[in-house]
Amino acid sequence: MSNFPSEEPVLVTCGLPYANGKCHIGHLRTYVPADIFIRALRKQGQEAVFVCGSDAHGTPIVVNAEEQGTTPKELVNKYHLHFEKIFKAMEVEFSIFGNTDSTTNHARTNSIVEALIDAGYVYPQVIRLAYCPKDKRFLPDRYVEGICPYCGAVARGDECDQGCGKHLEPGEIKNAKCRICGNPAEYREQEHFFFRLSAFGGFLSEYLDTLGGTSNAINYAKEWAKELKDWCITRNLEWGVRFPGHDDLVVYVWVDAPIGYISFTEEWANKTGNDWEKYWRQKARVIHFIGEDITYHHCIFWPAMLKGAGYTQPWAVVASGMLKIDDRKFSKSRGYVVWVDEDYLDHGFHPDLLRYYIANYTSHTKELNFSWKVFQDKVNNELVGALGNFLHRTLHFAHKNFGAIPEGEVDRDIFEKISSTINTVISAFDEYEFKKATDAMMELAQYGNAYFQSHEPWQLVKNDVKSCERVVKNCLQISKALILLFEPVLPGNMEKAWKQLSLPGDVHTARFEDALVEIPSAKLEAPSILFTKLEDKKIKEMEAILDRRIKIAIAKEKNKLEAGTEKAEITFEEFQKMDIRIGTVLAAENIKGSDKLLKLEVDIGEKRQIVAGIAKSHSPSELVGKQVAVLANMKPAKLFGVESRGMVLAADVEGAVLLMPEKKVREGTKVR
Ligand code: MF3
Ligand code: ZN
Repeated sequence: MSNFPSEEPVLVTCGLPYANGKCHIGHLRTYVPADIFIRALRKQGQEAVFVCGSDAHGTPIVVNAEEQGTTPKELVNKYHLHFEKIFKAMEVEFSIFGNTDSTTNHARTNSIVEALIDAGYVYPQVIRLAYCPKDKRFLPDRYVEGICPYCGAVARGDECDQGCGKHLEPGEIKNAKCRICGNPAEYREQEHFFFRLSAFGGFLSEYLDTLGGTSNAINYAKEWAKELKDWCITRNLEWGVRFPGHDDLVVYVWVDAPIGYISFTEEWANKTGNDWEKYWRQKARVIHFIGEDITYHHCIFWPAMLKGAGYTQPWAVVASGMLKIDDRKFSKSRGYVVWVDEDYLDHGFHPDLLRYYIANYTSHTKELNFSWKVFQDKVNNELVGALGNFLHRTLHFAHKNFGAIPEGEVDRDIFEKISSTINTVISAFDEYEFKKATDAMMELAQYGNAYFQSHEPWQLVKNDVKSCERVVKNCLQISKALILLFEPVLPGNMEKAWKQLSLPGDVHTARFEDALVEIPSAKLEAPSILFTKLEDKKIKEMEAILDRRIKIAIAKEKNKLEAGTEKAEITFEEFQKMDIRIGTVLAAENIKGSDKLLKLEVDIGEKRQIVAGIAKSHSPSELVGKQVAVLANMKPAKLFGVESRGMVLAADVEGAVLLMPEKKVREGTKVR
């Protein structure tokens, strides 16, 4: 018996991405399988809502906004649009993609926190908090770095992100340093508010026995539930949802972020005339897809909070294993990252290919390694060699010889094979085993290829047309089944294939069981090829991009280390070899094709054209009329085909800070 369709309403969510950076393959590890899952539910006749949105609050956002010289709100808006666009492009189709800074979420968070207060689950306590005497501020969460008290790894304020993965309470981290200035933090006392998590031990241990999902999440949670510490739910920040009655405090981001799941359901329900309480106030199946690293929050904090405030608790938590790139730990700062836009979609790769890779590489709970070589192999051998080949040879043969889907019956054997494949696929989905499911689909394609090969329809067509029609009809039936089965994984290509088979209706709303309905005879158009081989040249090009990024990251790291170290002494004569002068910027413009470079015209006693790598931090119009320091005898160079004679001096920090004279001086004035 399969789990779906169920009587109870079904809601699927994905962990909310922080709206502070671009989407990479690591994100997709959660979103793609969730999208496949929800499409598979619909294929079993199960209606389901699919909810996600931007995580707008917390220090991840505030710290990044500060670093990029923008406001949290602007940063969030920018990346909210980015994620929305990427999800669409990757065929991840949420019913709603919300934002935790919405008024609905502020209101729902208030109401839940108040419910917890009323029920006696929140209490004040004076605690010691990291404080930076230099910056004169408290240092919540990511504003501190230090050592994890549990495992000794380098950690950030609220999480041992590189070591044991534990959640850290304010004040717990050892050797705390301010992230802004790098100085050791002091400790100051202040009153904060705690959620009485320790009161939920009994509830959680029973609840976790009934919780569905993947064992990686549930087994860890069961261990954690044995030893629960109360949880500080307020922070000294401006940006966030205000803690009721305290204007100087906001709630911890891990309070209002998951509440986003509820608020987005409300927003969706209001828009579509549905009732959100069906999902969150009554018996329902709420299924959370998350990355393994946020299991504690979803299996411990979140169910306790929901229980305490009187809401429906999750029915299943599905946690994906982490991502590796070329067998190395995924790391943006070390260059081990594949961006979904600039490294994938922008190169013209179809989203279906990566969807298949993610689903089929390994079990959902294991580490997934991405490498371009393996990507090429999987596409060429499986999508092109097995699935694409079978669909194309069948359709091509049918079109060429009959111009139509022949009349006649489909063999019982064929239906039996299809039916057993459907059963395998459904039970694999019930266990969140996407590899098992897609392996079974691919096995049916291989079966089809072997059937086609051994029945030699190209011989039959010459002397036994009736038998040939039967073989072709069987292959077309297998094709129909493959299209329905693969639709959740390869929605774009299966939509095309559905049309090539002249099948009526919408492949996205059709059911798996329709694969057992005999394919009606109909005219066929000449089929076009769905999947094409990836050439070595293209893959080498992609590998080179990744390589270059890793090298740049290593060089940057080296630079950082060298910044503090002294260089060899030089004499005044040596210094005088440099012709440094003050100049006035006469004109500035962007250079086509480069987002880093500006072309400047600078008067340094004579007019010079200079290319400067400051476009990320400076707009052309703000520069005109400003005075800058220029190394005038810099060897001329061509950048992006534009000649540069001289170098504008700047402090070497991200974004570049220009050196400017204290007051205006005559153009060409020497610097020494
Ligand atoms: N933004 C968090 C992260 O990337 C996930 C939040 S999920 C939610 O780790 F449950 F809080 F919504
Ligand atoms: Zn640790």
